[in-house]
Amino acid sequence: MSQGYAVTAEFYDLLQAVEHRRLTGRLLDRWLGAPEVGVLDVGAGTGLDVMVLARRCPVVVHAVEPAAAMRAVLLSRLAEHPDPAARIRVHARPVQELGLRGVADFGWCLNTMAGLPAADRAAALAALADALVPGGRLVVQRPPTEAADSRRDLPSWPVGGDLYSGEVTTERVGPRAVRWRFDYRVSRDGALVRTAAEAFDGHLATAAEFDAELAAAGFTADATDDPDIVVARRC
Ligand SMILES: C[S@@+](CC[C@H](N)C(=O)[O-])C[C@H]1O[C@@H](n2cnc3c(N)ncnc32)[C@H](O)[C@@H]1O
Repeated sequence: MSQGYAVTAEFYDLLQAVEHRRLTGRLLDRWLGAPEVGVLDVGAGTGLDVMVLARRCPVVVHAVEPAAAMRAVLLSRLAEHPDPAARIRVHARPVQELGLRGVADFGWCLNTMAGLPAADRAAALAALADALVPGGRLVVQRPPTEAADSRRDLPSWPVGGDLYSGEVTTERVGPRAVRWRFDYRVSRDGALVRTAAEAFDGHLATAAEFDAELAAAGFTADATDDPDIVVARRC
Protein backbone atom coordinates (compact mmCIF):
# COMPACT_ATOMS: atom_id res chain seq x y z
CA MET A 1 0.00 0.00 0.00
CA SER A 2 2.91 2.37 0.63
CA GLN A 3 3.40 2.75 -3.16
CA GLY A 4 -0.33 3.26 -3.87
CA TYR A 5 -1.35 6.73 -5.05
CA ALA A 6 2.33 7.57 -5.71
CA VAL A 7 1.34 9.18 -9.04
CA THR A 8 -2.16 10.34 -8.19
CA ALA A 9 -1.25 12.27 -5.03
CA GLU A 10 0.37 15.01 -7.13
CA PHE A 11 -2.79 15.61 -9.16
CA TYR A 12 -5.56 14.71 -6.73
CA ASP A 13 -6.41 18.11 -5.27
CA LEU A 14 -5.98 20.03 -8.52
CA LEU A 15 -8.29 17.78 -10.50
CA GLN A 16 -10.74 16.52 -7.89
CA ALA A 17 -11.03 18.93 -4.97
CA VAL A 18 -13.69 21.23 -6.41
CA GLU A 19 -16.15 18.43 -7.19
CA HIS A 20 -15.29 16.64 -3.97
CA ARG A 21 -15.89 19.70 -1.77
CA ARG A 22 -19.26 20.37 -3.42
CA LEU A 23 -20.34 16.82 -2.55
CA THR A 24 -18.95 16.69 0.97
CA GLY A 25 -20.32 20.11 1.92
CA ARG A 26 -23.82 18.93 1.06
CA LEU A 27 -23.40 15.57 2.80
CA LEU A 28 -21.94 17.05 5.97
CA ASP A 29 -24.68 19.70 6.19
CA ARG A 30 -27.20 16.88 6.10
CA TRP A 31 -25.60 14.09 8.12
CA LEU A 32 -22.81 15.37 10.40
CA GLY A 33 -24.95 16.42 13.37
CA ALA A 34 -22.93 17.45 16.43
CA PRO A 35 -20.34 14.80 17.35
CA GLU A 36 -19.30 14.92 21.02
CA VAL A 37 -16.91 11.97 21.29
CA GLY A 38 -14.72 12.05 18.19
CA VAL A 39 -14.75 11.81 14.40
CA LEU A 40 -13.19 9.25 12.04
CA ASP A 41 -12.20 10.06 8.45
CA VAL A 42 -11.31 6.73 6.86
CA GLY A 43 -9.38 6.86 3.61
CA ALA A 44 -8.65 10.49 4.43
CA GLY A 45 -6.54 10.85 1.28
CA THR A 46 -4.95 14.27 0.86
CA GLY A 47 -6.99 15.55 3.78
CA LEU A 48 -9.63 17.45 1.81
CA ASP A 49 -12.17 16.66 4.53
CA VAL A 50 -10.17 16.44 7.75
CA MET A 51 -9.76 20.18 8.11
CA VAL A 52 -13.46 20.74 7.41
CA LEU A 53 -14.40 18.09 9.97
CA ALA A 54 -12.04 19.55 12.58
CA ARG A 55 -13.37 23.07 12.02
CA ARG A 56 -16.96 21.88 12.34
CA CYS A 57 -16.48 19.56 15.34
CA PRO A 58 -14.72 20.47 18.63
CA VAL A 59 -13.43 16.91 19.10
CA VAL A 60 -10.46 14.79 17.99
CA VAL A 61 -10.57 13.87 14.29
CA HIS A 62 -8.91 10.54 13.49
CA ALA A 63 -7.61 10.56 9.91
CA VAL A 64 -6.89 7.03 8.67
CA GLU A 65 -4.62 7.02 5.61
CA PRO A 66 -2.26 4.17 4.70
CA ALA A 67 -0.77 5.59 1.46
CA ALA A 68 2.41 7.55 2.14
CA ALA A 69 1.99 9.78 -0.92
CA MET A 70 -1.52 10.87 0.06
CA ARG A 71 -0.53 11.23 3.70
CA ALA A 72 2.32 13.54 2.70
CA VAL A 73 -0.18 15.98 1.17
CA LEU A 74 -2.47 15.63 4.19
CA LEU A 75 0.36 16.36 6.63
CA SER A 76 1.52 19.35 4.58
CA ARG A 77 -2.01 20.70 4.84
CA LEU A 78 -1.90 20.24 8.62
CA ALA A 79 1.50 21.94 8.83
CA GLU A 80 -0.05 25.09 7.36
CA HIS A 81 -2.87 25.14 9.91
CA PRO A 82 -1.69 24.39 13.47
CA ASP A 83 -5.23 25.17 14.56
CA PRO A 84 -7.25 22.95 14.14
CA ALA A 85 -4.45 20.49 13.21
CA ALA A 86 -3.71 20.01 16.91
CA ARG A 87 -6.96 18.01 17.12
CA ILE A 88 -6.28 15.85 14.03
CA ARG A 89 -4.56 12.53 14.72
CA VAL A 90 -3.18 10.70 11.69
CA HIS A 91 -3.20 6.89 11.63
CA ALA A 92 -0.75 5.60 9.01
CA ARG A 93 -2.32 2.19 8.46
CA PRO A 94 -5.25 0.52 6.71
CA VAL A 95 -8.55 0.79 8.58
CA GLN A 96 -8.61 -3.01 8.97
CA GLU A 97 -5.62 -2.60 11.31
CA LEU A 98 -6.89 0.51 13.08
CA GLY A 99 -7.35 -1.11 16.48
CA LEU A 100 -9.25 1.78 18.09
CA ARG A 101 -12.21 1.23 20.41
CA GLY A 102 -15.03 3.69 21.13
CA VAL A 103 -13.17 6.82 20.05
CA ALA A 104 -15.83 8.40 17.82
CA ASP A 105 -19.54 8.99 17.41
CA PHE A 106 -19.25 9.97 13.73
CA GLY A 107 -17.48 8.01 11.00
CA TRP A 108 -16.90 9.20 7.44
CA CYS A 109 -15.61 7.02 4.61
CA LEU A 110 -15.87 8.30 1.05
CA ASN A 111 -14.50 6.90 -2.19
CA THR A 112 -12.57 4.16 -0.40
CA MET A 113 -14.70 0.99 0.06
CA ALA A 114 -14.78 0.35 -3.70
CA GLY A 115 -11.04 -0.37 -3.59
CA LEU A 116 -11.38 -3.18 -1.08
CA PRO A 117 -12.20 -6.82 -1.89
CA ALA A 118 -15.09 -8.32 0.11
CA ALA A 119 -12.95 -9.83 2.91
CA ASP A 120 -11.13 -6.52 3.45
CA ARG A 121 -14.44 -4.63 3.39
CA ALA A 122 -15.76 -6.91 6.13
CA ALA A 123 -12.61 -6.33 8.20
CA ALA A 124 -12.82 -2.58 7.56
CA LEU A 125 -16.45 -2.42 8.70
CA ALA A 126 -15.65 -4.49 11.79
CA ALA A 127 -12.81 -2.08 12.68
CA LEU A 128 -15.16 0.87 12.14
CA ALA A 129 -17.74 -0.73 14.43
CA ASP A 130 -15.06 -1.13 17.12
CA ALA A 131 -13.96 2.48 16.74
CA LEU A 132 -17.48 3.92 17.01
CA VAL A 133 -19.48 4.11 20.22
CA PRO A 134 -22.96 2.48 20.27
CA GLY A 135 -25.41 4.83 18.54
CA GLY A 136 -22.58 6.40 16.53
CA ARG A 137 -23.29 7.33 12.93
CA LEU A 138 -21.37 6.08 9.90
CA VAL A 139 -21.62 7.84 6.53
CA VAL A 140 -20.02 5.51 4.01
CA GLN A 141 -19.90 5.38 0.23
CA ARG A 142 -20.51 1.80 -0.77
CA PRO A 143 -18.87 0.20 -3.83
CA PRO A 144 -20.72 0.64 -7.12
CA THR A 145 -23.20 -2.06 -8.07
CA GLU A 146 -22.32 -1.91 -11.74
CA ALA A 147 -19.58 -0.48 -13.94
CA ALA A 148 -19.69 -0.28 -17.71
CA ASP A 149 -16.61 0.43 -19.83
CA SER A 150 -16.44 4.22 -20.11
CA ARG A 151 -14.21 7.29 -20.16
CA ARG A 152 -14.67 10.73 -18.61
CA ASP A 153 -12.62 13.91 -18.35
CA LEU A 154 -11.59 15.26 -14.98
CA PRO A 155 -11.94 19.01 -14.48
CA SER A 156 -8.79 20.82 -15.60
CA TRP A 157 -6.87 23.41 -13.59
CA PRO A 158 -4.43 26.18 -14.65
CA VAL A 159 -1.15 26.50 -12.75
CA GLY A 160 1.35 29.19 -13.77
CA GLY A 161 0.16 29.18 -17.35
CA ASP A 162 0.23 25.36 -17.59
CA LEU A 163 -2.95 23.35 -17.80
CA TYR A 164 -3.32 20.27 -15.59
CA SER A 165 -5.96 17.86 -16.87
CA GLY A 166 -6.84 14.22 -16.86
CA GLU A 167 -9.27 11.47 -17.66
CA VAL A 168 -10.58 8.32 -16.02
CA THR A 169 -11.13 5.15 -18.01
CA THR A 170 -13.29 2.45 -16.46
CA GLU A 171 -12.72 -1.10 -17.64
CA ARG A 172 -14.65 -4.13 -16.52
CA VAL A 173 -12.03 -6.81 -15.82
CA GLY A 174 -14.16 -9.56 -14.27
CA PRO A 175 -17.69 -10.37 -13.13
CA ARG A 176 -17.22 -8.35 -9.91
CA ALA A 177 -14.03 -6.49 -10.75
CA VAL A 178 -13.24 -3.21 -12.42
CA ARG A 179 -10.07 -1.23 -13.17
CA TRP A 180 -9.98 2.55 -13.11
CA ARG A 181 -7.09 4.08 -15.05
CA PHE A 182 -6.27 7.73 -14.38
CA ASP A 183 -4.30 9.50 -17.12
CA TYR A 184 -2.87 12.88 -16.17
CA ARG A 185 -1.55 15.56 -18.54
CA VAL A 186 0.31 18.83 -18.15
CA SER A 187 0.27 21.06 -21.23
CA ARG A 188 1.61 24.50 -22.10
CA ASP A 189 0.33 26.60 -25.00
CA GLY A 190 -1.54 23.55 -26.25
CA ALA A 191 1.58 21.34 -26.31
CA LEU A 192 2.01 18.36 -24.03
CA VAL A 193 4.72 18.88 -21.37
CA ARG A 194 4.37 15.55 -19.57
CA THR A 195 1.98 12.72 -18.79
CA ALA A 196 1.53 10.30 -15.90
CA ALA A 197 -0.86 7.45 -15.21
CA GLU A 198 -2.01 5.18 -12.39
CA ALA A 199 -4.54 2.35 -12.29
CA PHE A 200 -6.65 1.14 -9.38
CA ASP A 201 -8.54 -2.12 -8.95
CA GLY A 202 -12.14 -1.88 -7.79
CA HIS A 203 -14.65 -4.39 -6.46
CA LEU A 204 -18.37 -4.25 -7.17
CA ALA A 205 -21.07 -5.04 -4.60
CA THR A 206 -24.82 -4.72 -4.66
CA ALA A 207 -26.62 -2.47 -2.17
CA ALA A 208 -28.10 -5.58 -0.55
CA GLU A 209 -24.66 -7.19 -0.19
CA PHE A 210 -23.22 -4.07 1.39
CA ASP A 211 -26.18 -3.73 3.77
CA ALA A 212 -25.60 -7.35 4.82
CA GLU A 213 -21.90 -6.61 5.40
CA LEU A 214 -22.87 -3.59 7.52
CA ALA A 215 -25.29 -5.72 9.54
CA ALA A 216 -22.67 -8.44 10.07
CA ALA A 217 -20.31 -5.79 11.44
CA GLY A 218 -22.94 -4.46 13.87
CA PHE A 219 -24.51 -1.57 11.95
CA THR A 220 -28.09 -0.79 11.01
CA ALA A 221 -28.50 1.01 7.69
CA ASP A 222 -30.87 3.93 8.35
CA ALA A 223 -30.83 5.98 5.15
CA THR A 224 -29.22 6.50 1.77
CA ASP A 225 -27.98 9.50 -0.16
CA ASP A 226 -26.26 10.15 -3.50
CA PRO A 227 -23.88 8.92 -4.79
CA ASP A 228 -24.08 5.41 -3.29
CA ILE A 229 -24.00 6.78 0.26
CA VAL A 230 -25.28 4.68 3.16
CA VAL A 231 -25.98 6.25 6.54
CA ALA A 232 -25.74 3.61 9.24
CA ARG A 233 -25.96 3.46 13.02
CA ARG A 234 -23.64 1.46 15.28
CA CYS A 235 -25.94 -0.89 17.23
C1 LIG B 1 -9.88 7.70 -3.86
S1 LIG B 1 -9.04 8.16 -2.40
C2 LIG B 1 -10.32 9.07 -1.57
C3 LIG B 1 -9.79 10.03 -0.56
C4 LIG B 1 -10.87 10.85 0.17
N1 LIG B 1 -11.73 10.00 0.98
C5 LIG B 1 -11.69 11.57 -0.85
O1 LIG B 1 -12.85 11.20 -1.06
O2 LIG B 1 -11.16 12.51 -1.45
C6 LIG B 1 -9.07 6.64 -1.46
C7 LIG B 1 -8.18 6.72 -0.25
O3 LIG B 1 -8.40 5.59 0.57
C8 LIG B 1 -7.14 5.13 1.02
N2 LIG B 1 -7.25 3.70 1.35
C9 LIG B 1 -7.11 2.65 0.53
N3 LIG B 1 -7.25 1.49 1.21
C10 LIG B 1 -7.50 1.84 2.49
C11 LIG B 1 -7.71 1.10 3.68
N4 LIG B 1 -7.71 -0.23 3.67
N5 LIG B 1 -7.92 1.77 4.83
C12 LIG B 1 -7.92 3.13 4.84
N6 LIG B 1 -7.72 3.88 3.74
C13 LIG B 1 -7.51 3.24 2.58
C14 LIG B 1 -6.21 5.39 -0.13
O4 LIG B 1 -4.85 5.37 0.26
C15 LIG B 1 -6.70 6.73 -0.64
O5 LIG B 1 -6.06 7.80 -0.02
